[in-house]
Amino acid sequence: MIRFSLIATTLTLAVSAVEAQQSATLPDGPGREIVSVACTQCHSLTPIVQLRMGEQGWRQAVENMVLRGAQVGPDEIDIVSSYLADKFGPGVPFTNQNSVEVHLKNGPGANLVEGTCGLCHGLDRTIDVKRPPEQWPAIVHRMVEIGTPLDDDQINQVIGYLQANYAPNQ
Ligand code: HEC
Ligand code: HEC
Repeated sequence: MIRFSLIATTLTLAVSAVEAQQSATLPDGPGREIVSVACTQCHSLTPIVQLRMGEQGWRQAVENMVLRGAQVGPDEIDIVSSYLADKFGPGVPFTNQNSVEVHLKNGPGANLVEGTCGLCHGLDRTIDVKRPPEQWPAIVHRMVEIGTPLDDDQINQVIGYLQANYAPNQ
């Protein structure tokens, strides 16, 4: 008797661990049902759960997908965008992502880049490609638009830092 119930318990635990892993892909919350149906018609959830953006960034992505044919009604865009920003927003940790250690060059603004530019993707993505100085403002403003927490003064510091340290031939 005892032995049987132990086996049964072990099996139940194993099954619920698998279930937990699968449902972990999309955490509970208002909007989850819409996302799980409307956002899996053309691709898996992978491109979604691997991305991090604020509300504005997700809204743009959702509107872009609606133009391609995603079945999200006009009155559902709010709830879907807030669900995605809440569950896959800046700073929400990634699972199974190899993190590359990055040593930024010293200089004013380095701490801001370190603190904010790794919240949605690896810091390596920020500085992998050296860019002509005139390209950095547009990139940084785009990152702020989709959810990087920087005020105007900090934006200028970050742009100055990247222009000074991560331009070609440096
Ligand atoms: C009608 C087909 C279709 C549906 C439905 C759809 N997508 Fe997409 N999605 C695409 C295509 C095609 C791409 C690849 C092209 C691209 O990256 O612009 C894509 C790419 C993406 C990407 C990756 C973009 C990047 O820059 O890496 C995200 C995120 C995404 N979709 C989110 C969503 C969300 C959220 C939903 C549900 C609201 C959704 N998709 C529903 C067609 C669709
Ligand atoms: C709120 C999430 C978020 C934060 C925080 C963030 N990024 Fe991004 N970043 C993205 C996304 C999403 C993409 C890819 C889609 C896009 O380019 O819109 C991206 C792409 C990039 C790219 C590649 C762009 C290209 O055109 O090749 C660079 C460079 C970059 N980010 C730099 C930065 C820098 C610098 C910071 C800090 C100031 C930063 N990111 C902070 C979300 C973020």
